[in-house]
Amino acid sequence: MRKKISLIGAGQIGGTLAHLISIKELADVVLFDVSEGLAKGKALDIAQSTSVDGYNINLIGTSNYEDIKNSDVVIITAGVPRKPGMTRDDLLGINLKIIKQVAEGIKKNSPNAFVICITNPLDVIVMAFQIYSGLPSKKIVGMAGVLDSSRFKYFLSQELKIPVKNIDTLVLGGHGDTMVPMPNHTTVNGKPLSEMIEKSKLDLIIERTRKGGAEIIKYLEKGSAFYAPAASGVEMAESYLKNLKKTLPCAAYLNGEYGVKNLFVGVPVVVGNLGVEKVVELTLDKNEKENFDLSIKAVNELFESAKKLDPDLKS
Ligand SMILES: NC(=O)c1ccc[n+]([C@@H]2O[C@H](COP(=O)([O-])OP(=O)(O)OC[C@H]3O[C@@H](n4cnc5c(N)ncnc54)[C@H](O)[C@@H]3O)[C@@H](O)[C@H]2O)c1
Repeated sequence: MRKKISLIGAGQIGGTLAHLISIKELADVVLFDVSEGLAKGKALDIAQSTSVDGYNINLIGTSNYEDIKNSDVVIITAGVPRKPGMTRDDLLGINLKIIKQVAEGIKKNSPNAFVICITNPLDVIVMAFQIYSGLPSKKIVGMAGVLDSSRFKYFLSQELKIPVKNIDTLVLGGHGDTMVPMPNHTTVNGKPLSEMIEKSKLDLIIERTRKGGAEIIKYLEKGSAFYAPAASGVEMAESYLKNLKKTLPCAAYLNGEYGVKNLFVGVPVVVGNLGVEKVVELTLDKNEKENFDLSIKAVNELFESAKKLDPDLKS
């Protein structure tokens, strides 16, 4: 039987997700949005593209949660994106209310799905989703690390003039300005990155990675990045659906790993058909550990603000 992916939010990322999933014939797609016309229009447009290309999947657009029943994967992009000058944290109040409704819809209609949350501010929204929905934490992840790592990798590849596929890297921590690119865990053609690049150039690339989302928002003026975020979400969904057991940096629930308890934060995890099958604990050097701790502090502080906005999060 074909798999089913429901996309909650049919905006820029939701529409791109639907298109990528159809091109890969990964699953049938339900595109859900409070704006019914947007969901129906995009689903119909992409469905028509499948007959040009000969892809064999079904797409529907809807604003009825019953249509997401029995999804294998649900990807959440419902919410508001940043405008120029805004931080991800500025979205907290409005996106928290949206995620509460979304959590109810998913809990009622697809409680066994693997849920990938993309809505910002990522780490706190994914935490709130888990509390609101009560779904098992192993079946919930946030998408940020795959995107942040792809930005880091792309900038390195441009600087070193080496294809991206020859670079292995990852970015940990919260999805914000305190994210932690990991040069000491980066290899280029199997060699340590430090042997390939001057420190001053690396520092600039790390800074550009941290501000990678803002750079795109500045160009677009309206809306934020959506192609690379959607590609990142698809990689995570595919690893779950096909049981690929890829190690991917995801916002995952930590229960003591990395010395962190009861928080979703970006760490490498193995994604297979059980969801988060393992949290991979890397040895961090002093500098990495300090940066990781700063990032945890920022996520914790924002979660405290979220609790003030909605006392239901205190449970
Ligand atoms: N995690 C990441 O790395 C990352 C990267 C880029 C963007 N984002 C975030 O992803 C989110 C979506 O970005 P986008 O560019 O697709 O935005 P968008 O505005 O294009 O789409 C969001 C959609 O959500 C819909 N929506 C609003 N309330 C809803 C509700 N209650 N139920 C269902 N749908 C609802 C809107 O109608 C809209 O179509 C934003 O919060 C953005 O900041 C995250």
